[in-house]
Amino acid sequence: MIVPGSASQSLSAALATELGEPLAPVEFDRFPDGELMGRVPGFEGGRVVVVASTVSSDAHVELLQLQDAVLEQADEVVTVVPYMGYARQDQRFREGEPISARAVAKAVSTGTDRVLTVNPHETGICDFFTVPCEAVDAAGRLATPLPEDLVDPLFLSPDAGAIDLAESVRDAYGVGEVDYFEKTRLSSTEVELTPSDAAVENRDAVLVDDIIATGSTMSEAVRHLHADGVRAVHVTTVHPMLATSAQTKLARAGVEAIHGTDTIERAVSDVSAAPAIADYL
Ligand code: R5P
Repeated sequence: MIVPGSASQSLSAALATELGEPLAPVEFDRFPDGELMGRVPGFEGGRVVVVASTVSSDAHVELLQLQDAVLEQADEVVTVVPYMGYARQDQRFREGEPISARAVAKAVSTGTDRVLTVNPHETGICDFFTVPCEAVDAAGRLATPLPEDLVDPLFLSPDAGAIDLAESVRDAYGVGEVDYFEKTRLSSTEVELTPSDAAVENRDAVLVDDIIATGSTMSEAVRHLHADGVRAVHVTTVHPMLATSAQTKLARAGVEAIHGTDTIERAVSDVSAAPAIADYL
């Protein structure tokens, strides 16, 4: 049985179809004091797959509640965290800070037998869980919505860390060159990019990153590509967080299209990570 978190209802439905398993009739409520209640009524045992992207602090609490609701009756609890919030806080950057990814991973581990998460920023965060955890690679799925007739396509990641994702998308697309920008982060909303050596003039570019948060990284990359004479820029991301004015920044920079998976359910989530997750279940 698939138990969906409130932020992962489309992905859970796609996963239920993919696996041929029923969807639990979950109920979500909020008490007058603001506290949450996630219920899983009519549940009778077997393997339970809780699917919940932790896109907010409330979503973290809701995930713990859903795990706890099925814990005693389930034969096995598998927790799928398609997008793991706080995963980018994976080290102590300044004295006195928590390693937030470790804190939430420990809490999630208490209610499950194993964990799957999709393209975390660093796969090392899997080590923070105290139960087995695997990182699912869904990046290749991002090739699906791309036009078939891209001109001399160039697949680019906006930093060296995401080049494997650009390779995954190129491999799934079937043809194209892969390269990356050098990135220096100046603040949480400002980045400086140095373009790759690859020629971009009159070519179609596909930018690939694990997450678009404020959109600063991607919009800067799009601007560079246009300055260098690119034909069109398709932006793809596994986790389309698109916080604050990210979509406006990208539109102003001049993107042809934005494609994301349903690890975070947004208007641009036009491809499902479900088939990639199902391979691990
Ligand atoms: C960081 O290295 C990540 O891969 C993303 O590039 C980054 O988190 C995107 O953030 P933003 O959209 O705020 O620039």
